[in-house]
Amino acid sequence: MPRRLGVIGYPVDHSISPAIHQAALDQLGIDARYERWAVTPEALPAWVATLRAPDVLGANVTVPHKEAVLPLLDELLPAARAIGAVNTIVNVGGRLRGENTDAAGFARALQEAGYQQPGGAVVLLGAGGAARAIAHALLEWGVDRLTIVNRHLPRAEALVSAMQARAGRVVIEACALASPSLDACLAACDLLINATSVGMRPGERILRPDQVPAGALVVDIVYNPPVTPLLADAAARGARTLNGVPMLVYQAALAFELWTGQPPPLATMFRAAHEALA
Ligand code: ATR
Repeated sequence: MPRRLGVIGYPVDHSISPAIHQAALDQLGIDARYERWAVTPEALPAWVATLRAPDVLGANVTVPHKEAVLPLLDELLPAARAIGAVNTIVNVGGRLRGENTDAAGFARALQEAGYQQPGGAVVLLGAGGAARAIAHALLEWGVDRLTIVNRHLPRAEALVSAMQARAGRVVIEACALASPSLDACLAACDLLINATSVGMRPGERILRPDQVPAGALVVDIVYNPPVTPLLADAAARGARTLNGVPMLVYQAALAFELWTGQPPPLATMFRAAHEALA
C-alpha cells in the first residue's frame, strides 16, 4: 500500500518541505507521497483525525497550526511539551504522537556553523512559535545571556516568563524592538538570530544596517530569499552569516527519521532544498 505524508498549514504554498521529503523518500525507495495540505483553522480537528488512517505515516505542521494542534494529539514527546508547539506528527498504529524538531534542527545548524558551546550573549529577534523553539534550543545549548526582542514587548515578556523556570544561570530578558537600549545589546552580542518573518518580502529589514553587529554570527531563519537584507547587511559589515536552509533541512531530517525509522539522506535533502529555492 503506498503511504502518505504531508505538511499542514494555511497558507502552505510557500513550503518547500514537499520537495525535500519527496526527494528523500524516492532516494530510499520508500513508496510514499508527501503532499501539501492547505487546512483552515476551522478544518484542523477533522483533518488531524484523518491522519490516524493506516496509509498515513505522519505530517509536518506549520503556520498557524503549531500550537493549535496540541490538544488534538494523543501523546507529546518531551521537546514538544517543553516548547508548547508541534511541527511533526507521527501516526503510531492509529495513535498520534507530536514532536518538535525545530529546536534540535536549529541546534545542529548552529553547531555546523561553528558556534562555540557553551556561552555567549545572544539576541533573539521574535517571540512567536519559531522563536519559542529557538529559545528552548539556546537554553539547552547553555548561553550566558539571552535577550528576546519583539515589536510588541508583552509577547517577548511572556516568552521570558515561560522560559524563566528552565533558565538556570542564564540571564534572560525582554526588550522592545524600538527600545533605545537595544543598540547596546546588539553591539555586545556574539550571536544574533532573526526568528521573525521580516525579510521574506523584498527589501524588508528587521534592523537598520548600522545596528547589525560586525563581530557576531548573524543567523536568519528566513530561507527564501536565501540572502535576506539582514544577511546582506551583516556580510557587508564583515559578520559571519547563516541562512535558514540548514535549520530547515535538519528539522526535516529528524522528522523523516521519526516517520520512516531510516537514516535521512542529508545530501539529497540539501540538494532538493537548494533546487526548490533556485
Ligand atoms: P512563527 O510561528 O513563524 O514564529 P508568529 O507566531 O506569527 O509566526 O510570529 C511572528 C513573529 O514575527 C513575531 O515575533 C512578530 O512580532 P509581533 O509579535 O510583535 O507581531 C514578528 N513580526 C512579524 N511582522 C513583523 C514586522 N513587520 N516587524 C517586526 N516584527 C514582525
